[in-house]
Amino acid sequence: MKLFDVYPLQPVNIVRGKGCRVWDDKGTEYLDLYGGHAVISIGHSHPHYVEALHEQAQKLCFYSNSVINILQQQLAERLGAVSGYDDYSLFLINSGAEANENALKLASFHTGRKRILSAVKAFHGRTSLAVEATNNPKIVAPVNDNGHVTFLPLNDIEAWREELSKDDVAACIIECIQGVGGIQLATVEFMQALAAECKQHGTVLVCDEIQCGYGRSGKFFAHQHLGIRPDIITVAKGIANGYPMGAVLIAPQFEAVYGRLGTTFGGNHLGCAAALAVLDVIEGEHLVENAAKVGEYIMSRLRELQLPHVTDIRGRGLMIGIELDMPYKDVRNSLLLNEHVFTGCAGTNVLRLLPPLCLSMDEADEFIQKLKNVLINA
Ligand SMILES: Cc1ncc(COP(=O)(O)O)c(C=O)c1O
Repeated sequence: MKLFDVYPLQPVNIVRGKGCRVWDDKGTEYLDLYGGHAVISIGHSHPHYVEALHEQAQKLCFYSNSVINILQQQLAERLGAVSGYDDYSLFLINSGAEANENALKLASFHTGRKRILSAVKAFHGRTSLAVEATNNPKIVAPVNDNGHVTFLPLNDIEAWREELSKDDVAACIIECIQGVGGIQLATVEFMQALAAECKQHGTVLVCDEIQCGYGRSGKFFAHQHLGIRPDIITVAKGIANGYPMGAVLIAPQFEAVYGRLGTTFGGNHLGCAAALAVLDVIEGEHLVENAAKVGEYIMSRLRELQLPHVTDIRGRGLMIGIELDMPYKDVRNSLLLNEHVFTGCAGTNVLRLLPPLCLSMDEADEFIQKLKNVLINA
């Protein structure tokens, strides 16, 4: 059997990682400014994480959600405390798409409504309603195209207000920093007005923090820069540093009904051990603060340097977009193959930085130098 060929692959076979570095099968070392697509939060193969997984695997990897799982309860308590949401409840699943799927389902159960508002350029995942709420017709199959979702420009409050005033919207779903959309930031004014409108019209506000959350923006959640408290928050990616996990944080007004939501694998023992180890390291090594500091440094250095081809630098913490006056493709390839640096991308012209949150100042300088080398010759 061969693999179903849906990924355009980089010609590199990564076999080992440590902190913000990875190595290929030929022993070449790479600086990782991509974090395996924002997944590696605490660094590759962090010793505490490896030990926690090892210890848990020796005890128990999995038992079903039909029995008490103390690790889930510990994770809920820890996550509530570190994120400032201890009055919310936690529902655990296995991926970002599933987190959004469950969030939108909950909003619909709660309101009895069927409409969703989502932003132009939004990405919320590839399953049923998550993909319908994703603003990319190329990945929406006819069976997912069910007319539930209206796309509106980010930060255009009048457009959202008009739709919300129809009193038929179950949920607004927003990435406060769009990832796939090219690091577009929701403004304070927009999000505060949107939160107020949602409240007024009985609509659930869902913040998709799958990419921008879990410390990446320099606060635990990106929406915490904007002074709002969404009704539902979805997370995944960095939550378990590569172990597949997603989560939904749910405000107290939502009723939990037996059997309404459920999953076989979600919140399993091994995953919870991974997620608890991630929180230990995030807190113990002050990684949210580090993301804020190093991210700000990268952006201000890049602005100072005024490198050729760079037309805009935007982002928060370690979620940074570098917009170019040319397609990112050659620049990204040269960074990878000549300078041995992994970066992400978005749209046609944006380099997207999503490094582990433990990126050091020296590693930031190393990246900037390597980017300079590439852009000067581009
Ligand atoms: C903002 C956002 N939401 C949802 C998802 C989907 O997550 P997953 O691929 O884990 O289903 C992603 C993945 O890139 C994302 O960036």
